[in-house]
Amino acid sequence: MCGIVGYVGGQSALDVVIAGLKRLEYRGYDSAGVAVLADGGLAAAKKAGKLANLEKELADRPLPSGSTGIGHTRWATHGAPTDANAHPHLDNAGRVSVVHNGIIENFAGLRAELTDRGHELLSETDTEVVSHLLAEEFSSCGDLAESMRHVCRRLEGAFTLVAVHADEPDVVVGARRNSPLVVGVGDGESFLASDVAAFIAHTREAVELGQDQVVELRREGVTVTDFDGRPADVREYHVDWDASAAEKDGYDYFMLKEIAEQPKAVADTLLGRIDASGTLSLDEVRIPASVLREVNKIVIVACGTAFHAGMIAKYAIEHWTRIPCETELASEFRYRDPILDERTLVVAISQSGETMDTLMALRHAREQGARVLAICNTNGSTIPRESDAVLYTHAGPEVAVASTKAFLTQLVACYLVALYLGQVRGTKWGDEIGSVVRELSEIAVQVEQVLGTMEPVRELARSLADKNTVLFLGRHVGYPVAMEGALKLKELAYMHAEGFAAGELKHGPIALIEQDLPVVVVVPSPRGRSVLHDKIVSNIQEIRARGARTIVIAEEGDETVVPYADHLVRIPATPTLLQPLVATVPLQVFACELATARGNEVDQPRNLAKSVTVE
Ligand code: F6R
Repeated sequence: MCGIVGYVGGQSALDVVIAGLKRLEYRGYDSAGVAVLADGGLAAAKKAGKLANLEKELADRPLPSGSTGIGHTRWATHGAPTDANAHPHLDNAGRVSVVHNGIIENFAGLRAELTDRGHELLSETDTEVVSHLLAEEFSSCGDLAESMRHVCRRLEGAFTLVAVHADEPDVVVGARRNSPLVVGVGDGESFLASDVAAFIAHTREAVELGQDQVVELRREGVTVTDFDGRPADVREYHVDWDASAAEKDGYDYFMLKEIAEQPKAVADTLLGRIDASGTLSLDEVRIPASVLREVNKIVIVACGTAFHAGMIAKYAIEHWTRIPCETELASEFRYRDPILDERTLVVAISQSGETMDTLMALRHAREQGARVLAICNTNGSTIPRESDAVLYTHAGPEVAVASTKAFLTQLVACYLVALYLGQVRGTKWGDEIGSVVRELSEIAVQVEQVLGTMEPVRELARSLADKNTVLFLGRHVGYPVAMEGALKLKELAYMHAEGFAAGELKHGPIALIEQDLPVVVVVPSPRGRSVLHDKIVSNIQEIRARGARTIVIAEEGDETVVPYADHLVRIPATPTLLQPLVATVPLQVFACELATARGNEVDQPRNLAKSVTVE
């Protein structure tokens, strides 16, 4: 959702904050604003649209320079993306300035109360009430951190707040409840941000804030308390990637770079987790083997692309472990009163570790006594913090809004969990597990091979730029792959795209087929479960007979599909369960190229935000 930066130190706060916002623009990009403390006062600028609009405004009307400041990129919840609704929000005297991520649910009552007391609120946002409440509190206690604690106790909902006050020129105060906020500790300077990417160019030393904590940031360090002012425990950590990981590195888009990084991301996620004898060692899964042996049900919760990884995981887990496994959209999960107990293992998959729907689902699961294992890409984020155990994916920072390398690493992590459970519990598939572990160790090379053959896919995508609809079909693990291909196309190319289970075609979707309609079909390996393969070849014939233009993704050496493929995309032979790791890559490239051909913003698609911290 929104991106927040706060700074106090020896540099120009505006420069640090703007550079940080650039790194966070992926989180929200419908308006942006900054405030700096200078010359005993507070100066602010804000503008609807992308950060570039704000930069132009600052070039036309520069702010005075100061060394304490805050900034914000917005993803609108309350109020349209206008200049007035952009953050920061000030009090009527213009002494306090606030930026916010999340939703303050009781803002209407607070607003009415403030209006009754004579405050004039100028925007439609829920945030503005906070600047006015802080101003009132500060006038009685003269301490911004104490004012923030007091105000936070009155707020309902999810929020990260960062504020400055002209009367405390060397202080930035932040607060968090359910929304992300991390502290960066530099030499004589301190940072606050929604994501470490905002300050990684200055320091790799970070402090993770817990729920319901307030942090007071000064040049010489930080003080963290709970909302009642009691000193709080915090975790310090060293960020294991550097600023170059969050650069485009010569690529036109982050998405292209992140697609290209997939072989490394996959290899890094496997690193150290399979030993030379093919034994899995997932030491970080702190759930004891004895507990894992007792698990009698697995529920995977996730959203969007991570949900598709979870759908694929279900096939692997049930096959290798024989434990019943459900995959459920996190946003639906807790509202249907799911049956969970201490023998249920809930797996929460999330790249950002901050997705509110997934967080709420895991909290619900823990309340029912279930154990939660997080699969997550972001060290120190909320979802792993609140889980019983975490298996980190090592994709590195994913900046493009459309998830690519995180998805592949989520798949790897899911396979590792499935194989590990199989290893711990012992299953009749012992030999198969051994050979799959070997194949998995080699998979990064195959992903690399696929990337080397993508030019015809790009050409095909460009030729389809004027189409309105593309359908995707798959069976077994190819079905979630089809759904992922459709999701990528929707979010990037803004086209109507649907992913169907090929077996469902005749139950309705086949009515959509018309002359020259592009249909992408993910074909399972002809080896192993060949019955699946034969059925999908029949499905291809059925749609082609009705005029579809077939784009067939099939394993090298599979000649049976050749007569029915208008376009054939070859992928390396892999065991069926691992095929999503290679079959998804052409679909990512296809969506990225189609979006480019249609003139869309690849890294920042309309209406979307990278990290969805509201339900
Ligand atoms: C799609 C995409 C989203 C995310 C979803 C979950 O390309 O990126 O669908 O997968 O919002 O996000 P995380 O994994 O951060 O929980």
